[in-house]
Amino acid sequence: MGRSVIGTAIFCAVLSVLAACGGQGGGSATTTATPAPPPSAEYVPPPIPTDGAIGQLGMTGPEKPWETMNYEEKEWYMIGKVHPIMRQIFQTYNATKYEGLNFECTPCHGENAKEKKYKMPSDHLSPVPPLDSQEFKDMSKSKLVKFMMERVTPVQAHLLGVAPYDANTKQGFSCYGCHPQG
Ligand code: HEC
Ligand code: HEC
Repeated sequence: MGRSVIGTAIFCAVLSVLAACGGQGGGSATTTATPAPPPSAEYVPPPIPTDGAIGQLGMTGPEKPWETMNYEEKEWYMIGKVHPIMRQIFQTYNATKYEGLNFECTPCHGENAKEKKYKMPSDHLSPVPPLDSQEFKDMSKSKLVKFMMERVTPVQAHLLGVAPYDANTKQGFSCYGCHPQG
């Protein structure tokens, strides 16, 4: 039962991310009478697994609010929960590429992360253009970006126990939690 409540929370987060980013379906000219489905309908990321790390650790936020954790508590929470669950999420996109030791702290935090105190956003990731720009709209047709929008961002926000990005208030956890602003 707990799981279905959590599932709903994630689904809502996904919906709000979609609403925030998916807006107007591209607007390209079509010559056919039947309108093409909006690009966001073309690729649906694989479902969030319920076994493995997610089954064992639970798709829940931290017991203590993230903002109130000290550095060491954050580090342990990353090691014990965020990393194993996010690895499992990335594996739904590409099981081989993100297998085992291929997905440690580096994909999110970059090389020498420890020396840089795991500062986020990390500039080894490509800058993401403003969320309301045409450039963003164009790139959000790609499979990887849809995966980022519909899985990585909402699940990461959920695991941190922070609010997902809200297009109305322009507040909340978005791409810029990990990527620099472009
Ligand atoms: C899927 C991406 C992801 C992975 C993998 C990941 N982290 Fe993080 N980590 C984040 C994000 C996002 C934040 C920043 C959260 C915030 O404060 O907004 C963060 C923050 C941190 C912080 C706190 C930094 C600060 O400035 O207070 C530490 C410490 C940390 N991570 C350690 C680790 C370690 C150690 C690992 C590997 C075991 C790891 N992380 C793996 C995404 C990730
Ligand atoms: C929790 C951290 C996190 C968040 C939030 C996130 N990403 Fe990513 N993103 C990553 C990681 C890690 C990679 C690199 C994966 C790899 O190395 O294969 C990546 C890769 C990408 C890439 C490929 C280019 C590159 O930098 O490697 C694009 C484009 C991208 N993300 C776009 C986005 C967009 C757009 C959003 C918001 C909708 C977003 N990401 C949110 C972690 C994140």
